[in-house]
Amino acid sequence: MNVPVTALPDPYSLALEDLDPANPDLFEQQKHWDYFKRLREEDPVHFVEGGEFGPYWAVTKFKDIVYVDTHHDLFSSVPSIGIGEPELDFEPPMFIAMDPPKHDEQRRAVVSAVMPQRLAEMESLIRQRTVEVLDNLPIGEEFNWVDEVSIELTTRMLATLFDFPFEQRSKLTYWSDVAVSGPNVGGGYSEEERRDILMDCLSFFTDLWNQRVSGPPKQDLISLLSHDPATRDMDPLEYLGNLILLIVGGNDTTRNSMSGSVLALHSNPQEFAKLKADQALIPSMVCEVIRWQTPLGHMRRKATQDVELGGKLIKKGQRVVMWYVSGNRDPDAIENPDSFIIDRANPRNHISFGFGIHRCMGNRLAEMQLRILWEEILKRFERIEVTGDPVRIHSNFVMGYSGLPVVVHPI
Ligand code: HEM
Repeated sequence: MNVPVTALPDPYSLALEDLDPANPDLFEQQKHWDYFKRLREEDPVHFVEGGEFGPYWAVTKFKDIVYVDTHHDLFSSVPSIGIGEPELDFEPPMFIAMDPPKHDEQRRAVVSAVMPQRLAEMESLIRQRTVEVLDNLPIGEEFNWVDEVSIELTTRMLATLFDFPFEQRSKLTYWSDVAVSGPNVGGGYSEEERRDILMDCLSFFTDLWNQRVSGPPKQDLISLLSHDPATRDMDPLEYLGNLILLIVGGNDTTRNSMSGSVLALHSNPQEFAKLKADQALIPSMVCEVIRWQTPLGHMRRKATQDVELGGKLIKKGQRVVMWYVSGNRDPDAIENPDSFIIDRANPRNHISFGFGIHRCMGNRLAEMQLRILWEEILKRFERIEVTGDPVRIHSNFVMGYSGLPVVVHPI
């Protein structure tokens, strides 16, 4: 189907005060890069007055983003972390959109599910599930990497984390997609449908909670939530909100890093050659993919008091958007930021996982899943050829793909 493409203005043809990088069309068409370049160079803390999501402050340089993210006393995460005001009536509370002390208590309840020791215990199961997917790929035939590999593997990883009934794991993908659907993102669900489907999700997870709460404490996310004093008395909607956070948090992000890794290595054959010659580069390649892809384009905050940033006065109550996707391309923080280089000296120097008290809880799990994927790919395939244009998601929040046609070439 041919989708009509909206013509988007060249950012350099606009008056600076009219520049708003938030239009989802920009991201879908990959036209956002020059908007951010101009803002970083000419107005790094930029006030967007009107526009679809305005008014808000656009923060585009690495160091300013780190400042906002690490000053949660000045910049609150309540009531929501997406650029717009919550779009729907039905927005269950979750700890990513809370401030201390409640945020800290709830995060502490679940963080052990992704601590190094627990990851080491999960590694062989995640590897086994990865191998099954790769060994069943069609050979010499074009298929969509997003559906067959990225979504499937991410769903399997989430099922492992929740100790979710494995044969019903596609429910997790479905609920995640429904949870993030909305008027600005699409998805085709009415608000009522969305609410009903998420209430089904709650009811399914309530059964799991009831089974786990009476059992011995275990390390899966549901057991942790049901046993911890900070979360065991949550009301049902808060349980649902935190489930959505944990499902969505790990889903689109890891999924799009996997698809991004295939695209990046296909588009940069010299880097792929380096990787094949030295597989010890897999971990730093994974970090570079996560920087280059920046799976979440932004997070937003609200100023708790008047604050000066970059010579501008942000007033109490105003919205502040940290554009991670721009900070990761800031030449003052990262050398040659537009290039994909798998052996950078400091590959973890990126902003894709945020900073401060909300720094991504699943960062090491995501890295492990990608490392295992590439270890297993390199054992099996000579290369993964991208055979057509990627189809990108229409969003200023999720930086990702719904389609990536590939053919795999076995060794
Ligand atoms: C490449 C993959 C991933 C990326 C790029 C990513 C990115 C992020 C970002 C940007 C934040 C907010 C940081 C901030 O506000 O400072 C975040 C928070 C979070 N992420 Fe991830 N994430 C990824 C994978 C995962 C996985 C696999 C999980 C599964 C458990 C997860 C769970 C969470 C949770 C629970 C939070 C909220 C933390 C808090 O509020 O304290 N993420 N993530």
